[in-house]
Amino acid sequence: MQQVKGVIARTKGAPVELVTINVPDPGLGEAVVRIQACGVCHTDLHYREGGIGDDYPYLLGHEAAGIVEAVGAEVHDLAPGDFVILNWRAVCGDCRACRRGRPWYCFATHNATQKMTLEDGTELSPALGIGAFIDKTLVAAGQCTKVDPSARPAAAGLLGCGVMAGLGAAINTGNVQRGDSVAVIGCGGVGSAAVAGARLANAARIIAVDIDDRKLSKALELGATHTVNSRERDAVEAIQALTGGFGADVVIDAVGRPETWKQAFYGRDLAGTVVLVGVPTPTMQLDLPLLDVFGRGGSLKSSWYGDCLPSRDFPMLIDLYRQGRLPLDAFVTEEIGIDDIEAAFDKMHGGDVLRSVVVF
Ligand SMILES: NC(=O)c1ccc[n+]([C@@H]2O[C@H](COP(=O)([O-])OP(=O)(O)OC[C@H]3O[C@@H](n4cnc5c(N)ncnc54)[C@H](O)[C@@H]3O)[C@@H](O)[C@H]2O)c1
Ligand SMILES: [Zn+2]
Ligand SMILES: [Zn+2]
Repeated sequence: MQQVKGVIARTKGAPVELVTINVPDPGLGEAVVRIQACGVCHTDLHYREGGIGDDYPYLLGHEAAGIVEAVGAEVHDLAPGDFVILNWRAVCGDCRACRRGRPWYCFATHNATQKMTLEDGTELSPALGIGAFIDKTLVAAGQCTKVDPSARPAAAGLLGCGVMAGLGAAINTGNVQRGDSVAVIGCGGVGSAAVAGARLANAARIIAVDIDDRKLSKALELGATHTVNSRERDAVEAIQALTGGFGADVVIDAVGRPETWKQAFYGRDLAGTVVLVGVPTPTMQLDLPLLDVFGRGGSLKSSWYGDCLPSRDFPMLIDLYRQGRLPLDAFVTEEIGIDDIEAAFDKMHGGDVLRSVVVF
């Protein structure tokens, strides 16, 4: 066991605290990772505000990269010194989805078995089973994906959550093809990654839609060919006007509200694809003529974690980043210290940043 500093949400709505945390030595199938960088994601704020559960205290942070410090028994493909990105869907290899060869849908993903605790023994709930606003964290070995160690940790770690979700919404779930037209509604961290994913897939036309001009200019940097401020123009009409009157082949909703999903649905060409990657709240309802669903054909999909398979996608995307083909650095708006997380939440609310990244 060792004692390190980490950031927790102790109770609902209270500001986060930097406290001493007991990290067990890695047991069977586990690893301890020294964190080098961890992005501040909306989900961390949701935990703090009670939007995800009531299992306080939460150990926050989950978009992280670091160096493996120690591994437990039965860990064969990971060793101290490996540079890894942490993932929150370590696949089991054994459930029905895994056995059918679709491990990105794994129904039984796993985390470390042992618990990190406060000094008084109180067990912590790590955010998304990771908990990485901490000097060292305990995870399941399968949550560590080895990538090229020359990648900048602050950029690489972002693949662990929101950026992967957006990239994957385009390249995995949306299956964007060379020459496609793509529209992305909501260009925060996730949506602008979807824009970058559409460019990586050689989409011919990439339409960024947002209500904030700052996000639209960032989207242009990341590969958007056109922008639409949907506060000023009707999103569906604008997408149609930019696609010869047809609508886009793939429309990605990275907001996750009934009105943005409907824009995606009607902004799509006949037989096109809608991808929902933004996460709705439990009270949201959709009201739609069923005949439109039938008549417009195509596919209506959701994207969990970009339908990624970390072992397949992280090393590949880091290679593309190293070659200058995936601008991961552009998602790092600022590097901050472990004491600056509350300030980073404020900036997130103000729409000032794509990602603030805690660097250790
Ligand atoms: N599916 C997944 O696995 C997964 C993973 C991570 C995050 N997410 C979800 O993705 C969503 C986006 O996350 P983010 O980190 O990019 O958030 P963000 O706050 O950085 O970005 C949201 C963007 O949407 C824009 N927006 C808000 N309302 C809009 C509207 N009506 N029309 C157009 N644009 C609008 C905002 O201006 C902002 O640019 C969230 O719901 C988040 O929970 C999903
Ligand atoms: Zn996240
Ligand atoms: Zn499985």
